[in-house]
Amino acid sequence: MTDSIYTQIGGADAVEKAVDIFYRKVLSDDLISSFFDDTDMDAQRNKQKSFLTMVLGGPNEYTGKDLRTAHAPLVEKGLNEEHFWAVAGHLQETLQELSVPEDLIETIMGVAAGTIDDVLNR
Ligand code: HEM
Repeated sequence: MTDSIYTQIGGADAVEKAVDIFYRKVLSDDLISSFFDDTDMDAQRNKQKSFLTMVLGGPNEYTGKDLRTAHAPLVEKGLNEEHFWAVAGHLQETLQELSVPEDLIETIMGVAAGTIDDVLNR
């Protein structure tokens, strides 16, 4: 059996590092940072860690909202495709900085791209 992507990238340690670097990038990007003005970022990091763990095939401990519900208020505030791809770009750069192999990055970015309709509520 093939290991899950979660195991292949290095498990909990790798996800923890990735999420921390990812949010540093997101919060330094003027195009999107304001969406997080009222967000408790410690809670957000934890939710994102358990969400990523789940979608990468690790242990499923995600108890957050589904993506459609979680982002509906942001769509009301103007969240659009440009914002989505900016966030996706930060994820891709994060994985590259962590030297995740390119074929795994491609798979992960495919998973991320597949959430666009839910995130944008369309
Ligand atoms: C790959 C696409 C995305 C995924 C997988 C994702 C995932 C998540 C998850 C798992 C949560 C937690 C849900 C909960 O509160 O229970 C969340 C919340 C949130 N997301 Fe995303 N997200 C994505 C794209 C975006 C984009 C493009 C933005 C804005 C530029 C964004 C901004 C936010 C904000 C501000 C919250 C927290 C709202 C609050 O304060 O409670 N997300 N997202």
